[in-house]
Amino acid sequence: MNYSYVSHLICPKCSTTCNVTEPQHLCTCGSPLLVEYDLETLAEEWSPADLRDRPADLWRYHELLPLQDPAYKTSLGEGMSPLVPLPTLQEDMDIRQLHMKDEGIIPTGSFKARGAAVGVSKAKELGVKELAMPTNGNAGAAWSLYAARASLESTIVMPVDAPKITRNECALSGANLYLVDGLISDAGRIVGKAVEEHGLYDVSTLKEPYRIEGKKTMGLEIAEQLGWEVPDVILYPTGGGVGLIGIYKALKELQRLGWIKSDKMPRLVAVQSEGCAPIVEAWNQGLRSSSFWENSETIAFGINVPKALGDFLVLDALYETEGCAIAVDDASLLDEQKRIAQKEGAFVCPEGAAAFLAARKLRETNWINADDHVVVLNTGAGIKYPDTVNIEIPILNPGEELQSKG
Ligand SMILES: Cc1ncc(COP(=O)(O)O)c(C=O)c1O
Ligand SMILES: [Zn+2]
Repeated sequence: MNYSYVSHLICPKCSTTCNVTEPQHLCTCGSPLLVEYDLETLAEEWSPADLRDRPADLWRYHELLPLQDPAYKTSLGEGMSPLVPLPTLQEDMDIRQLHMKDEGIIPTGSFKARGAAVGVSKAKELGVKELAMPTNGNAGAAWSLYAARASLESTIVMPVDAPKITRNECALSGANLYLVDGLISDAGRIVGKAVEEHGLYDVSTLKEPYRIEGKKTMGLEIAEQLGWEVPDVILYPTGGGVGLIGIYKALKELQRLGWIKSDKMPRLVAVQSEGCAPIVEAWNQGLRSSSFWENSETIAFGINVPKALGDFLVLDALYETEGCAIAVDDASLLDEQKRIAQKEGAFVCPEGAAAFLAARKLRETNWINADDHVVVLNTGAGIKYPDTVNIEIPILNPGEELQSKG
């Protein structure tokens, strides 16, 4: 058996193919490239039983990942995050079954570790020495730390308002870190220029093909954790949309392998903030691509992406699964964050809270049925965003007594 059954890259727009043995970025037509595998051979040579004794990390699916030589594997133990039942919240929302795929407990504190682990490993295999990216924070944190582990240099540009802890993660890793007084789109323009002038390896969202493959493992894991069944609905906080594209890709690959028996697909939901909702706007109008969202602003920093390069892939996934896109407001998502902590003891990130709130709203309008099985992605740890919690706490003088226990 091969370590990987990767075969080539393909452009979803014009079907141009490229090899996986040299660095590749966008297709000549400007579209992101997607990774293809020899699924026919893999279906004959690989089965769920092969996973039984493998470590509980995302590399357990190495046949369906792009790294060809395990010597370049760069891992901090990422993946196989828990699929946590939420009995109190599901009752509160009147949903038969509600699970949280909790990405808050993986290395670097967000699901971005998945894309970074696979992307950095593949970059190392391709002989890359220095990578560069714009980021809203979590991706830069993950990529710079994984780059450090692989002994690669990294150059990261992030908005000055990005969560401070992510800035510290990059700085501590030894990355060449710059802050921009603007948005991720402004950071992107600066990185684009540096890539052109200094020949850095561009790992901006979807400008290299392998990050999706890392994020795809969220979909592989959900299916495996549910005994190779799929839920009715999956909600995902959507910025660049890579996670949603990846989950959809994973489920389709599992169907083609015959591991998921039914041809039922979960309805995929892209959740955005009312302050930055280009995908929602496009979906509402039945469009296949989105327009730049001017003056975007949201407390859920990871989903502040005014125009995603892969918007058409996200929208395709929504249409093909009969899913939808929905926006929620910042004040309400913070209320939901508090409710989840109080009802389930989970401190989810604002992006994850947005996805939970969307589930609640979609249940209220009956888009989600009472007997649906719903999976919500909590994409990061709430503890990475200490400033979003503003609760008055009584301060006592030494020797003072409590007025009441409550
Ligand atoms: C916590 C968190 N959730 C969601 C997202 C959005 O991710 P994607 O690009 O996959 O849409 C990000 C991206 O920065 C993030 O940091
Ligand atoms: Zn193309």
